[in-house]
Amino acid sequence: MRVLGIAGSPRQGGNTDILLNEVLRGAASRGAEVKTIILSRLKIAPCEHCDACLETGKCKVMDDMQMVYDEMERADRIVLASPLHFMGVTAQTKAMIDRFQALWARKYRLKLPPLGKKRDRKGLFISVGARKTSHLFEPALATVKSLFAVLDIIYAGELLFEGVDEKGAIARNPMALNQAFIAGQRLVEE
Ligand SMILES: Cc1cc2nc3c(=O)[nH]c(=O)nc-3n(C[C@H](O)[C@H](O)[C@H](O)COP(=O)(O)O)c2cc1C
Repeated sequence: MRVLGIAGSPRQGGNTDILLNEVLRGAASRGAEVKTIILSRLKIAPCEHCDACLETGKCKVMDDMQMVYDEMERADRIVLASPLHFMGVTAQTKAMIDRFQALWARKYRLKLPPLGKKRDRKGLFISVGARKTSHLFEPALATVKSLFAVLDIIYAGELLFEGVDEKGAIARNPMALNQAFIAGQRLVEE
């Protein structure tokens, strides 16, 4: 069982990174092989909407996204972590998501499985936001659910924490950390 963690925050060691680490620790404690990619360390250009992928199912832009496609194909579980930035996912995360348009093309135009060989992939979403308001995570959830649906990744749930702003503040919330650890265990047991 391979678990791919995707760290979408530009603030390394911040709240979503801490939660992601706990989820991956939980998954590893159940024997999963875990790997994290840190989007802010990668060069991923935004989608150019050149439509080249409609013919090939591949993105012609040769940057670090090519490695992300490979890692996604190899993963059985995907844990996507992004804080809220202006209600949505971070720019780093959205750039990656838009580049999955190539796999949308593979699926809907070329009638191929988006991530190569079909298997039961599952995905978990982690987010935090500084505000405390109803429906806080809905725009980000809509984006992430749409991504997982296009990639045939079963939506396995989410870990969402509001009112979290200061760097590392989530580390002072043992219940949140425990919830994340258990979510990681469950993700690979299911
Ligand atoms: C550019 C930017 C936009 C933000 N927009 C929101 C927002 O719309 N809603 C919210 O609740 N918090 C917002 N925040 C606060 C972050 O979500 C919050 O600080 C979070 O804890 C950061 O997580 P991280 O440490 O994983 O980066 C924003 C922060 C930044 C830097």
